[in-house]
Amino acid sequence: MIKLIKSTFHHEAQTRRALADFILHQDLLSMNGQCRRFEETFAARQGRRHAVFVSNGSVANLLLIQVLVNQGVLRRGDRVGVSALTWPTNVMPLIQLGLEPVAIDCALDTLNISPQNLGRHVSGLRALFLTNVLGFCDDLPALRALCDDHGVVLLEDNCEALGSSVAGTLLGNFSLASTFSFFVGHHLSTIEGGMVCTDDDDLYEQLVISRAHGWDRNLTPDRQQRLRTEAAVDDFHAKYTFYDLASNFRPTEINGFIGNRQIQYWDEIVDARAAHFARFQQAMAGNRDVHQLDLNHMDTVSNFAMPVICRTPELAEKYRAEFEAAGVEIRPVIAGDITRQPFYRRYVAESTERPVARLAHTNGFYFGNNPDLTEDELTTLCDLLGN
Ligand SMILES: Cc1ncc(COP(=O)(O)O)c(C=O)c1O
Repeated sequence: MIKLIKSTFHHEAQTRRALADFILHQDLLSMNGQCRRFEETFAARQGRRHAVFVSNGSVANLLLIQVLVNQGVLRRGDRVGVSALTWPTNVMPLIQLGLEPVAIDCALDTLNISPQNLGRHVSGLRALFLTNVLGFCDDLPALRALCDDHGVVLLEDNCEALGSSVAGTLLGNFSLASTFSFFVGHHLSTIEGGMVCTDDDDLYEQLVISRAHGWDRNLTPDRQQRLRTEAAVDDFHAKYTFYDLASNFRPTEINGFIGNRQIQYWDEIVDARAAHFARFQQAMAGNRDVHQLDLNHMDTVSNFAMPVICRTPELAEKYRAEFEAAGVEIRPVIAGDITRQPFYRRYVAESTERPVARLAHTNGFYFGNNPDLTEDELTTLCDLLGN
C-alpha cells in the first residue's frame, strides 16, 4: 500500500529514539526554550523577522485573523478573498470572527488563484488570505502587486508549501504574515504544530500576547514594561493582566524538540519532494486524459501531494479505480471546492461559479508525495500517471 502519509517524521527511527530520550530527561515539557529555539531557527531559515510557534496550522490561521481583528486591520463585515480550493480551517476563522469570505477560483494549470481571477474580485476586498495550494503558486509577484494597488492586505496560508519558491523568494514571504502547518504528512512534522511568520514588530507582539491567554509573559522585558506602564498595572497584578482577545494556542517542548531536529532536514525534504514532483509531472506529460500543470515559472516546487485532474468524470472514475487497485491511497484534492462544503453553504450566502475548483472536486484526486517514497513506489506511481 502506498499510503497518503508514509511516516510521522523524516528519519523516523532516529527521531523517535531522540524524542524518547528527551522526554525521559527533560523536566519542563510546557512551552519553553526548545520552542523558542525552533522559532528562531525557523524564522532565520524562512527569512522572516519573526516566527510564533503554535499548536497546529488551523490555530495559526485563527490566531492571525484574531490579532488582525484586535488591531483593527480587519473589521467585522470586511470581505476577505480565499482560494476556492483550500482547507476548511483557512476559511473558518474568517466566519468565526465575523468576516465575509469570498471564494476565488483557481487557474487550471496551477490550481492556485491567478491575477486574472483575483482581478474580478479585488475591488471589494479588504484582505486576501491566499492558500499556496499543494506547494504550487500562480504569479505571486503579480498577485502581490495587485493587492498593493488596491489596498488589499495580503496574507498567505503556506501550510502546504514550505520550501517552494518563485522569483527567488520563498512562498510565505510575499505577505504581511504567513502560516505553516507541521502536522504529520506535511513537509516538516512536529506531530501537531504550526507557525505564524511576519516581519512586522507590532503584529509579532500581538501574536505572542494572543497565543497565550492575552497576557504579556512571553514578551521581552522592555515590551512588558511598556504595556504595563501604558495600562497602569501594578507589580502584583502584572502577571495576571490580559491585554486583548486571545486563547491558548501554545505548543509543547515535545513539539519544539521535534521541530529542532526535523528542521535540520529541510533541504533533504524539499529536494526529495521537488524531485518526485518533477518525475510525476514528466510521467503525466503525454497523458491526454488529464489536465497538465504548468509550473515553469517556479524556482522550486516543494510539492505537498500530487493532484490528478481528469478531463471527464468517467475518466476520473477509471483513474481512481486504477490507483486504488494498484494499492495507492487517494483522496479528494484538499477539501475539493470549498463552497460545496456544508459549513460554507450554511454560513456564506453567494452563488458565484467556480468552474475550475468544481472540476478539481468532481474530476480530481490526489496521492501523497512523501520524501521516503522508494524507487519501486515511484515507478508504480509514474506508470499509473503515464497511463
Ligand atoms: C492549506 C491548509 N491550511 C491549514 C491547514 C491546517 O493545518 P493543521 O492540520 O496543522 O491544523 C491545512 C492542513 O492540511 C492546510 O492544508
